[in-house]
Amino acid sequence: MSVNTIAINQRLNRFDGHEEIWLFGYGSLIWKVDFPYLERRPARIHGWVRRFWQGSHDHRGTAEAPGRVATLIAEPNAICAGMAYRIAPAVFDHLDMREKNGYLREVVGIEFKSGETVDGLIYIAGPENEAFLGHASDAEIAAQIARSRGPSGLNRDYLTHLADALRDMGEQDAHVFAIERHLNAGLAI
Ligand code: SIN
Repeated sequence: MSVNTIAINQRLNRFDGHEEIWLFGYGSLIWKVDFPYLERRPARIHGWVRRFWQGSHDHRGTAEAPGRVATLIAEPNAICAGMAYRIAPAVFDHLDMREKNGYLREVVGIEFKSGETVDGLIYIAGPENEAFLGHASDAEIAAQIARSRGPSGLNRDYLTHLADALRDMGEQDAHVFAIERHLNAGLAI
């Protein structure tokens, strides 16, 4: 079921009076940069893994046939690579709209490649949100992605853009790359 987190995120705020905030992106926020930023830097976070466990009813699927997009699942000792953007708080008006289907802004510790750390914000769609789909096998996830499309386009484009962006950054993600292999194998049949 689709949800709308805009009002909750505006109430949560989390800007803490800052004029600039670091945002960590791990999914489409890595490769679809439709917002202004002051600076961006490859970065990583600890204690989270990227999983295609969130339903997309508004971008890469529909209410009747949701696609699958990335969220983060807590896992001790895990590391998730992504892109950090330094942005003005006003940019969150746009981002809250874009991420409205279940994602809430959380505070996260961001580590840059230099080893320097900073607190920033992240959008996470947790297991309690109504659009959450949860675990499925890599093959099942790939099959759902292969047949899904929504107002923002084909679900498989989301997956392949993300896989390409991670490769460009020199990063590995076994989950993303395994789904990509299934997707490519299915398309070749
Ligand atoms: C993110 O990219 O950080 C959030 C999930 C998404 O928009 O794909």
